[in-house]
Amino acid sequence: MGRGFPERHLWRRVASMLTCPACGTANPEGARFCNGCGGALAGPGALRKERKVATALFADLVGSTALAEREDPEIVQSVIGLAFDRIAAEISRHEGLLEKFMGDAVLAVFGVPRAHEDDAERAVRAAIEMQAVLAELNRGLAAEGKPTLAMRIGIEAGEVLVDLERATGPRDRMITGDAVNTAARLQAAAEPGHIVVGPGVHASTKEVIEYRELGPFALKGKREPVLAWRALRIKARTRGERSRLGLEARIVGRDEELAVMEQTLRRVETEGRPALLTIVGPAGVGKSRLVSELERLVEERPDVLYWRRGRCLAYGNPSYSAFAEAIKAQCEIAGDDPAEVAARKADAALAELGGDERLAPALHALVGAAEARGASREELFDAWRSFLERMAARYPLVLALEDLHWADDGLLDLVEHVADWAQGPILIVATARAELFDLRPGWGGGKRNAVSLSLDPLSVEEGEAMLDELLHGSLEPALKRTIVSRSEGNPLFLEEIVRKLIDEGVLRATEADRWVPMGSLADVEIPGSVQRLIAERLDGLPLQDKLVLQDAAVIGRVFWLGAVAELTGLEPDEVRRALGRLRQKELVVRHEPSSFSHEEEFAFRHNLIRDGAYDALPKALRADKHAGVARWASRSAGDRAEGIAALVATHLLEAIGYLEELAEDCALAQEQWGVLVFPGVELTHLPPEAIPEVAARAKELGALVIVHGETIVEPVPRGTNLAALQSPDVDILAHPGLLTEEEAALAAETGTYLELSARRGHSLTNGHIVRLAR
Ligand SMILES: Nc1ncnc2c1ncn2[C@@H]1O[C@H](COP(=O)(O)OP(=O)(O)OP(=O)(O)O)[C@@H](O)[C@H]1O
Ligand SMILES: [Mg+2]
Repeated sequence: MGRGFPERHLWRRVASMLTCPACGTANPEGARFCNGCGGALAGPGALRKERKVATALFADLVGSTALAEREDPEIVQSVIGLAFDRIAAEISRHEGLLEKFMGDAVLAVFGVPRAHEDDAERAVRAAIEMQAVLAELNRGLAAEGKPTLAMRIGIEAGEVLVDLERATGPRDRMITGDAVNTAARLQAAAEPGHIVVGPGVHASTKEVIEYRELGPFALKGKREPVLAWRALRIKARTRGERSRLGLEARIVGRDEELAVMEQTLRRVETEGRPALLTIVGPAGVGKSRLVSELERLVEERPDVLYWRRGRCLAYGNPSYSAFAEAIKAQCEIAGDDPAEVAARKADAALAELGGDERLAPALHALVGAAEARGASREELFDAWRSFLERMAARYPLVLALEDLHWADDGLLDLVEHVADWAQGPILIVATARAELFDLRPGWGGGKRNAVSLSLDPLSVEEGEAMLDELLHGSLEPALKRTIVSRSEGNPLFLEEIVRKLIDEGVLRATEADRWVPMGSLADVEIPGSVQRLIAERLDGLPLQDKLVLQDAAVIGRVFWLGAVAELTGLEPDEVRRALGRLRQKELVVRHEPSSFSHEEEFAFRHNLIRDGAYDALPKALRADKHAGVARWASRSAGDRAEGIAALVATHLLEAIGYLEELAEDCALAQEQWGVLVFPGVELTHLPPEAIPEVAARAKELGALVIVHGETIVEPVPRGTNLAALQSPDVDILAHPGLLTEEEAALAAETGTYLELSARRGHSLTNGHIVRLAR
């Protein structure tokens, strides 16, 4: 048996450590000052015993005996040593203290010497990662035909006694207590490969970790049976898509499609190769729903998969944004994280996956943490693909990309690149309306690993079944038939008809949760398309709610309360109440967690609702509203503006899109009246990195481009002067009061005009500008 090797191998590291009481760093024997924090390592006597609440994790490797029987002892030693090294790394990454290796077992404690409020969660997360790194190691062993290893893990939280004085003695345990004993017993009772937690850990982590109850365990040394749970996975951060209130039908029909999806996923997993599955069909037919159903099936499975989702926007799509959204979720980057935070999180995610550091620059560029300096598209694609491969090496990966018909060319190329070249179990599930084939007529064609599902409308029976689901089967058959035939088998249309009937009081809920018709359906006019139907529902809203909804639509499918308040000029509380009413009508849903910290986030329940509300907004107001969103975003991000540069740019691009009409009007003025009028744009308060793109677009639309410079009285982000002067499309840099000598030289070189202003405050620096510009 292999115990002798790892024990010696590991004791060397553990037994000679001197643990710092302040920061937990292990120091070499005899050290007087800590290598970690520089604090004094107290001599014997100064150390004391302490009671603390902590979480203990016991892990035991199973299978090393089989390995030792078949393999050369040196190989066994290196395999087990490697396993323990990786395990130790996971524990320290979660700031756990490796208290002991004993033979093939590990004891780690979370919360000593320093407690964190989420120690129990850290322990479970570490355990999940430990199982994952072992699984990765096993794949390598299995490929070489060697026996694999499994690990049992037990975790419990509670009060422990920390005796730092004994920490240096190899035979003594530094930490004792009931939690430690229970964790050890739970570990012994666990199945290989499982993670079992006790009531203390379960109670404080059940919101974030998904568990399966195992029932009471009779544990050795315990009078009462102990309740235990098996940890399954970290709950996906649900980004609530569909409404959880009220109307939602269980899925009807689509058995075949789901079977194909499941089968494709299974093939990806067993063959360890990527596949591209595209679901095509008209708006509202149920594409996104099928993706959610697959997600639900995946969530019910006991094993772990990465499920990452991104969506293309109907307008102003920054390049690769849907892919970036998915990768940001992987790195746990929030929408408004400043560049350095995003970079740090991306690096941590890369390290966690054991990825090559050389991938970092491309990853940073993707998540908006840095510019992609000079990297070619091939280099970026290779790096991003490698990152996906690292993910897939850990768990099978599903990349769900929604609404590809709005994707930019780059994203479509990237999807094909990954499908063609990536290695490992990666399933790309894409949804698209048929317009995708206008962009890429041969999408998915000619690939062995590509599957396309074309969604037909629901059959009459399926439509009726859906109605039964929605309204608990309480409608007359004749009424049902009328509704279903009007909906033409489009589930969204069907839902919207029912909502309209409820809105208008034609269907009323009874106390017994049934719906009864009040009056005749024949009296209700149902428009011929779902778009018209939605437009009519929106028309029927009270004025204030309608205005709130229209302004929200300017922001996008996803929007924030603060931004709506800014655009409407209403108090946040008023907006909140209006949104509450709109949620009741199932027009919008709440999104949690928000991608914009400190902001309540909402979303339109369906794209067509967003489009309907946007279409109702007078065109004359749109440019102004988009600019308003950009202003709000730059302002509320404060000095974290980099993170939202893409959002700001999107809205400014949208706003200046209306220049086209202005340019036409100007041309007309000249033609009709001989008046020369120049359309112009002033760009102000943009994140500097957004300036080149927005300026280029404004120029393309025929505008004179002015950038509001950095001044002493009205701050725009630092770097604005330079970015404006470097952009070939900026004509005038207005009152750049903080101009530097280099910038003045650059202006002379590029022929950019510097403006002197008579405006109060701004004019104070006129002398400075004149002096430099001479
Ligand atoms: N088979 C089904 N059974 C029950 N409800 C369904 C079914 N298909 C779709 N729905 C419901 O119909 C609505 C519209 O579906 P979904 O959002 O998936 O459409 P979509 O095809 O993705 O549209 P879009 O192209 O606009 O994104 C959703 O509320 C969804 O839950
Ligand atoms: Mg959809």
